[in-house]
Amino acid sequence: MSRVSAIVYTSATGFTARYAGLLAEQTGLPLFRLEEADALAPGAPVLYLGWLHAGSVRGLKRALRRFRVEGTCAVGMAPEVDADKLRRDNGLGQAPLFYLRGGYAPDRVRGLDRVLMAGMKRHLAGKSDPQSQAALAAMRQGADWVSADQLGPVLAWLGS
Ligand SMILES: Cc1cc2nc3c(=O)[nH]c(=O)nc-3n(C[C@H](O)[C@H](O)[C@H](O)COP(=O)(O)O)c2cc1C
Repeated sequence: MSRVSAIVYTSATGFTARYAGLLAEQTGLPLFRLEEADALAPGAPVLYLGWLHAGSVRGLKRALRRFRVEGTCAVGMAPEVDADKLRRDNGLGQAPLFYLRGGYAPDRVRGLDRVLMAGMKRHLAGKSDPQSQAALAAMRQGADWVSADQLGPVLAWLGS
C-alpha cells in the first residue's frame, strides 16, 4: 500500500524525469508528466517532483490546484538546501518535502532560463569561495548527480 496513487512530475532537462522514472520502477506506481496528467482524477493523492527554478519548485502550484499533493520532491543542482525555507517559499506548510540533487545540462537549458543562467555565471565568476567555484564549474561543463541512493527517504516515506 502506498500513500499516493501516482507520481507526477515536471522536468525541463531530464534529471527530474529520471528520478520520477526510478521511483515508478521501484514502486510500480503510474507515472505522469504534469502536462499529461489528465487521466488522473482531480484531487487524486500524488507524489509530485519538480525541478528548482530560483528557489521555487516548478509546476508545484499547478499540481497543488489539481491534485492532493501528499509529498513533494524538489530536484536541484545545489549540494543541499534549507528544507524549511524551501517549504516556506513554496507554500508547503509542514507537508513532506525531499530534496534530490539532479544535475546541470548546459546544452539543454533554453530561452529565458539560458539568459538567467548567463547572469548567474557572471555573478559566480566574481566569487572565489569553493562553493561558488564548484557551482560555476558545473554550469560550464555540466554535471550529473542523479543516483538511486538518494531515493531512500522517499521510498521509505511512500511505503510507510
Ligand atoms: C533558470 C534556472 C534556475 C535554477 N535555480 C536553481 C535553484 O534555485 N536551486 C538549485 O538547486 N538549482 C537550480 N537550478 C538547477 C536545476 O534545478 C537543475 O539543473 C535540475 O536538475 C533541473 O532539473 P530537470 O533536468 O528535471 O529540468 C536552476 C536551473 C536553471 C536553468
